[in-house]
Amino acid sequence: MSSASPLRVVVLISGSGSNLQALIDGQKAGELPIEIAAVISNRPGVKGLERATNAGIEAITLDHKGFASREAFDSALAQRIDGFEPQLVVLAGFMRILTPDFAQHYLGRMLNIHPSLLPKYQGLNTHQRALDAGDSEHGVTVHFVTAELDGGPAAIQAVVPVLKEDDASTLASRVQAQEHVIYPMAVKWFAEGTLRMHNNAAVLKGEPLPASGYQVRTNNV
Ligand code: GRF
Repeated sequence: MSSASPLRVVVLISGSGSNLQALIDGQKAGELPIEIAAVISNRPGVKGLERATNAGIEAITLDHKGFASREAFDSALAQRIDGFEPQLVVLAGFMRILTPDFAQHYLGRMLNIHPSLLPKYQGLNTHQRALDAGDSEHGVTVHFVTAELDGGPAAIQAVVPVLKEDDASTLASRVQAQEHVIYPMAVKWFAEGTLRMHNNAAVLKGEPLPASGYQVRTNNV
Protein backbone atom coordinates (compact mmCIF):
# COMPACT_ATOMS: atom_id res chain seq x y z
CA MET A 1 0.00 0.00 0.00
CA SER A 2 2.80 2.37 -0.85
CA SER A 3 0.44 4.88 -2.45
CA ALA A 4 -1.89 5.07 0.59
CA SER A 5 -1.21 7.63 3.27
CA PRO A 6 0.74 6.34 6.26
CA LEU A 7 -1.08 5.21 9.39
CA ARG A 8 -1.12 7.90 12.08
CA VAL A 9 0.29 6.50 15.30
CA VAL A 10 0.76 7.85 18.83
CA VAL A 11 3.24 5.95 21.00
CA LEU A 12 3.01 5.90 24.81
CA ILE A 13 6.16 5.18 26.82
CA SER A 14 7.50 5.28 30.37
CA GLY A 15 11.18 4.54 29.90
CA SER A 16 13.99 3.61 27.57
CA GLY A 17 11.89 3.39 24.42
CA SER A 18 13.84 0.67 22.64
CA ASN A 19 10.58 -0.59 21.12
CA LEU A 20 9.78 2.96 20.04
CA GLN A 21 13.21 3.04 18.40
CA ALA A 22 12.45 -0.18 16.50
CA LEU A 23 9.32 1.51 15.10
CA ILE A 24 11.22 4.70 14.22
CA ASP A 25 13.92 2.64 12.49
CA GLY A 26 11.36 0.59 10.56
CA GLN A 27 9.59 3.74 9.45
CA LYS A 28 12.84 5.43 8.42
CA ALA A 29 13.92 2.34 6.48
CA GLY A 30 10.67 2.51 4.50
CA GLU A 31 9.49 -0.82 5.92
CA LEU A 32 6.68 0.56 8.05
CA PRO A 33 3.91 2.62 6.44
CA ILE A 34 3.35 4.74 9.55
CA GLU A 35 3.73 8.31 10.71
CA ILE A 36 4.47 8.70 14.42
CA ALA A 37 2.53 11.86 15.24
CA ALA A 38 3.65 12.06 18.88
CA VAL A 39 5.34 10.21 21.71
CA ILE A 40 3.87 10.72 25.17
CA SER A 41 5.59 9.68 28.40
CA ASN A 42 4.05 9.61 31.87
CA ARG A 43 7.57 9.91 33.30
CA PRO A 44 9.71 13.01 32.78
CA GLY A 45 13.24 12.85 31.42
CA VAL A 46 13.21 9.29 30.09
CA LYS A 47 15.40 8.17 27.22
CA GLY A 48 12.43 7.42 24.96
CA LEU A 49 11.58 11.13 24.87
CA GLU A 50 15.10 11.87 23.66
CA ARG A 51 14.77 9.19 20.98
CA ALA A 52 11.56 10.86 19.78
CA THR A 53 13.11 14.32 19.67
CA ASN A 54 16.15 12.98 17.81
CA ALA A 55 13.80 11.53 15.21
CA GLY A 56 11.96 14.84 14.83
CA ILE A 57 8.82 13.55 16.57
CA GLU A 58 6.86 15.68 19.03
CA ALA A 59 7.79 14.45 22.53
CA ILE A 60 5.33 15.17 25.32
CA THR A 61 5.54 14.56 29.06
CA LEU A 62 2.29 14.11 30.93
CA ASP A 63 3.36 13.25 34.47
CA HIS A 64 0.74 11.10 36.19
CA LYS A 65 1.93 12.45 39.54
CA GLY A 66 0.28 15.76 38.74
CA PHE A 67 -3.20 14.18 38.76
CA ALA A 68 -5.46 13.42 41.71
CA SER A 69 -6.76 10.12 40.37
CA ARG A 70 -6.16 7.46 37.74
CA GLU A 71 -9.37 8.58 36.03
CA ALA A 72 -8.23 12.21 35.86
CA PHE A 73 -4.88 11.23 34.36
CA ASP A 74 -6.38 8.85 31.81
CA SER A 75 -8.91 11.41 30.75
CA ALA A 76 -6.23 14.09 30.25
CA LEU A 77 -4.07 11.56 28.42
CA ALA A 78 -6.90 10.59 26.08
CA GLN A 79 -7.48 14.26 25.32
CA ARG A 80 -3.81 14.74 24.39
CA ILE A 81 -3.78 11.58 22.29
CA ASP A 82 -7.01 12.41 20.47
CA GLY A 83 -5.65 15.84 19.56
CA PHE A 84 -3.33 13.96 17.15
CA GLU A 85 -6.21 11.95 15.67
CA PRO A 86 -4.25 8.69 15.64
CA GLN A 87 -5.52 5.56 13.91
CA LEU A 88 -3.46 3.41 16.26
CA VAL A 89 -2.13 3.89 19.79
CA VAL A 90 0.99 1.87 20.58
CA LEU A 91 1.90 1.16 24.20
CA ALA A 92 5.66 0.61 24.22
CA GLY A 93 6.77 0.04 27.79
CA PHE A 94 3.95 2.24 29.13
CA MET A 95 3.94 1.22 32.78
CA ARG A 96 0.43 2.20 33.81
CA ILE A 97 -2.71 0.27 34.64
CA LEU A 98 -5.39 1.66 32.36
CA THR A 99 -8.91 2.60 33.43
CA PRO A 100 -11.68 0.59 31.72
CA ASP A 101 -12.96 3.79 30.03
CA PHE A 102 -9.56 4.48 28.51
CA ALA A 103 -9.20 0.89 27.25
CA GLN A 104 -12.73 0.97 25.85
CA HIS A 105 -12.16 4.27 24.06
CA TYR A 106 -9.28 2.77 22.04
CA LEU A 107 -10.70 -0.74 21.70
CA GLY A 108 -9.44 -2.36 18.52
CA ARG A 109 -6.96 0.43 17.88
CA MET A 110 -4.49 0.07 20.74
CA LEU A 111 -1.65 -2.46 20.95
CA ASN A 112 0.61 -3.40 23.86
CA ILE A 113 3.74 -5.51 24.18
CA HIS A 114 4.16 -7.72 27.22
CA PRO A 115 7.31 -9.72 27.96
CA SER A 116 5.80 -13.17 28.51
CA LEU A 117 3.93 -15.85 26.64
CA LEU A 118 0.50 -14.59 27.66
CA PRO A 119 -1.71 -15.70 29.33
CA LYS A 120 1.28 -16.72 31.45
CA TYR A 121 2.80 -14.10 33.76
CA GLN A 122 0.59 -11.07 33.48
CA GLY A 123 1.97 -8.14 35.46
CA LEU A 124 5.60 -7.59 36.50
CA ASN A 125 8.87 -9.55 36.90
CA THR A 126 7.98 -11.91 34.09
CA HIS A 127 11.52 -13.12 33.33
CA GLN A 128 12.25 -14.10 36.92
CA ARG A 129 8.86 -15.79 37.20
CA ALA A 130 9.54 -17.88 34.08
CA LEU A 131 12.92 -18.89 35.54
CA ASP A 132 11.44 -19.69 38.97
CA ALA A 133 8.82 -21.89 37.32
CA GLY A 134 11.54 -23.84 35.48
CA ASP A 135 10.00 -23.04 32.08
CA SER A 136 11.96 -24.29 29.07
CA GLU A 137 10.48 -21.56 26.87
CA HIS A 138 9.65 -17.93 27.45
CA GLY A 139 8.87 -15.02 25.16
CA VAL A 140 6.87 -11.93 24.39
CA THR A 141 3.37 -11.11 23.19
CA VAL A 142 1.92 -8.22 21.19
CA HIS A 143 -1.77 -7.97 21.95
CA PHE A 144 -4.77 -5.72 21.50
CA VAL A 145 -5.59 -3.85 24.69
CA THR A 146 -8.84 -4.49 26.51
CA ALA A 147 -9.92 -3.49 30.01
CA GLU A 148 -8.35 -6.68 31.37
CA LEU A 149 -4.68 -6.09 32.37
CA ASP A 150 -2.41 -7.86 29.84
CA GLY A 151 -5.50 -9.81 28.83
CA GLY A 152 -6.55 -8.68 25.34
CA PRO A 153 -6.35 -10.96 22.29
CA ALA A 154 -2.82 -11.83 21.17
CA ALA A 155 -1.65 -10.78 17.71
CA ILE A 156 1.91 -12.16 17.70
CA GLN A 157 4.04 -14.16 20.12
CA ALA A 158 7.76 -14.78 19.85
CA VAL A 159 9.01 -17.85 21.69
CA VAL A 160 12.62 -18.06 22.88
CA PRO A 161 14.42 -20.92 24.63
CA VAL A 162 15.35 -20.61 28.32
CA LEU A 163 18.95 -21.70 28.83
CA LYS A 164 20.36 -23.42 31.91
CA GLU A 165 22.74 -20.55 32.59
CA ASP A 166 20.10 -17.81 32.17
CA ASP A 167 19.39 -15.21 34.79
CA ALA A 168 16.60 -12.64 34.51
CA SER A 169 18.86 -10.22 32.71
CA THR A 170 20.20 -12.57 30.00
CA LEU A 171 16.70 -13.89 29.44
CA ALA A 172 15.33 -10.35 29.22
CA SER A 173 17.84 -9.40 26.53
CA ARG A 174 16.99 -12.46 24.46
CA VAL A 175 13.31 -11.58 24.75
CA GLN A 176 13.91 -7.90 23.98
CA ALA A 177 15.68 -8.75 20.73
CA GLN A 178 12.45 -10.46 19.67
CA GLU A 179 10.31 -7.54 20.86
CA HIS A 180 12.08 -5.38 18.32
CA VAL A 181 11.14 -7.85 15.59
CA ILE A 182 7.52 -8.62 16.40
CA TYR A 183 6.27 -5.17 17.42
CA PRO A 184 7.11 -3.60 14.05
CA MET A 185 5.61 -6.70 12.39
CA ALA A 186 2.29 -6.27 14.22
CA VAL A 187 2.18 -2.53 13.55
CA LYS A 188 2.93 -3.14 9.87
CA TRP A 189 0.09 -5.66 9.61
CA PHE A 190 -2.25 -3.21 11.30
CA ALA A 191 -1.12 -0.39 9.00
CA GLU A 192 -1.69 -2.58 5.96
CA GLY A 193 -5.16 -3.51 7.21
CA THR A 194 -4.41 -7.23 7.55
CA LEU A 195 -4.52 -7.29 11.38
CA ARG A 196 -7.68 -6.29 13.19
CA MET A 197 -9.60 -7.04 16.36
CA HIS A 198 -13.07 -8.46 15.85
CA ASN A 199 -15.46 -10.05 18.40
CA ASN A 200 -12.70 -9.94 21.02
CA ALA A 201 -10.35 -11.96 18.79
CA ALA A 202 -7.29 -10.92 16.81
CA VAL A 203 -7.94 -11.51 13.13
CA LEU A 204 -5.20 -11.82 10.51
CA LYS A 205 -6.16 -11.63 6.83
CA GLY A 206 -9.77 -12.32 7.80
CA GLU A 207 -8.96 -15.44 9.85
CA PRO A 208 -9.21 -15.44 13.67
CA LEU A 209 -5.82 -16.17 15.23
CA PRO A 210 -5.34 -18.83 17.92
CA ALA A 211 -5.15 -17.67 21.56
CA SER A 212 -1.37 -17.41 21.29
CA GLY A 213 -1.60 -15.20 18.20
CA TYR A 214 0.71 -15.72 15.23
CA GLN A 215 3.71 -17.56 16.67
CA VAL A 216 7.31 -16.83 15.79
CA ARG A 217 9.82 -19.35 17.15
CA THR A 218 13.49 -18.66 17.38
CA ASN A 219 16.43 -20.75 18.49
CA ASN A 220 18.88 -17.90 18.38
CA VAL A 221 20.58 -17.34 21.70
C1 GRF B 1 9.67 -4.11 27.29
O1 GRF B 1 10.32 -5.19 27.86
C2 GRF B 1 8.21 -4.40 27.10
O2 GRF B 1 7.95 -5.74 26.83
C3 GRF B 1 7.63 -4.02 28.42
O3 GRF B 1 8.38 -2.89 28.82
C4 GRF B 1 9.65 -2.91 28.21
C5 GRF B 1 9.84 -1.64 27.47
O4 GRF B 1 11.12 -1.46 26.98
N1 GRF B 1 6.21 -3.78 28.29
P1 GRF B 1 11.47 -0.21 26.08
O5 GRF B 1 11.07 1.03 26.87
O6 GRF B 1 10.71 -0.32 24.80
O7 GRF B 1 12.95 -0.29 25.90
